[in-house]
Amino acid sequence: MKKKDAGGGKGGLLRLDKYLADMGLGSRSQIREGARKGKIRVDGAVETNPERKIDPQAAEVTWDGQPVAYVSQEYYMLNKPQGVVSATEDKLHRTAVDLIADRRRKDLFPVGRLDIDTEGLLLITNDGDLAHRLLSPKKHVDKTYYAEVEGRLPEDAAERFRAGIILKDGTETMPAVLRMEDGLSSWDEGGPNGRRSRNKGGSDGMLPQDGKDSRSLFSQDEGGHEPRQAVLLTIREGKFHQVKRMFEALGCKVTYLKRISMGNLRLDETLRPGQYRPLTEQEIEMLKKQSRSGRL
Ligand code: URA
Repeated sequence: MKKKDAGGGKGGLLRLDKYLADMGLGSRSQIREGARKGKIRVDGAVETNPERKIDPQAAEVTWDGQPVAYVSQEYYMLNKPQGVVSATEDKLHRTAVDLIADRRRKDLFPVGRLDIDTEGLLLITNDGDLAHRLLSPKKHVDKTYYAEVEGRLPEDAAERFRAGIILKDGTETMPAVLRMEDGLSSWDEGGPNGRRSRNKGGSDGMLPQDGKDSRSLFSQDEGGHEPRQAVLLTIREGKFHQVKRMFEALGCKVTYLKRISMGNLRLDETLRPGQYRPLTEQEIEMLKKQSRSGRL
């Protein structure tokens, strides 16, 4: 059977059942049932026809006496904690979307994936066009990660990242920028799983143009352990486990990973792991503009 169009295009009319389902009031059939029972009012009058089309910006809709305002798009910045999956549903783990307690829409999803043990910036939205553009390698939206790496990085690591790393399975990656941090202490500890970036001059997360930031990579470890180094890595793609695999290709292991920026959007340093906030209008506009032009 052909599905009836529920409308809802930009500025258009929207079917009442879609309006209420989008706002998380239940499934379409639950909403039909509610309509039958007289739970829905539009502009003060009971409406029993869930297929009625309304103007979502103008109509005053209530469900069980409670006003239900319509929100067409939502944008949140989440500091994803470890142990949470970048998904909308999962049988075993909490999902990034579950953490957005104030969400209005039921169709939110994370833009791209962070591994379960990766922390940091994750955009949660229902804006599919924006997500698509932000994730497209063609748009060249930089993603910067803070990583702690175990093992001895080669002296020419920064040059090798800049040239593009060949992963162990032969996959070639696009050029990336590696910068050394001053040691593991350059990020503050902040409770369980909690590390916060300190604002450091020069670590703005953007691709530097000269690439001449390769300092002496390691101070010698005195306890006979593998040396560890804190780095910032900026990449333009989002291949599966990409950062970990890039370091693995150079014989090193990432022991801690946190995304700190996506394009010009930086993780809000006041957000503890697991906390989130809506993006500001300015941030939304900036992301849309960047993703359209592909320029940073
Ligand atoms: N690269 C990784 O290896 N893991 C992530 O979560 C993100 C990028």
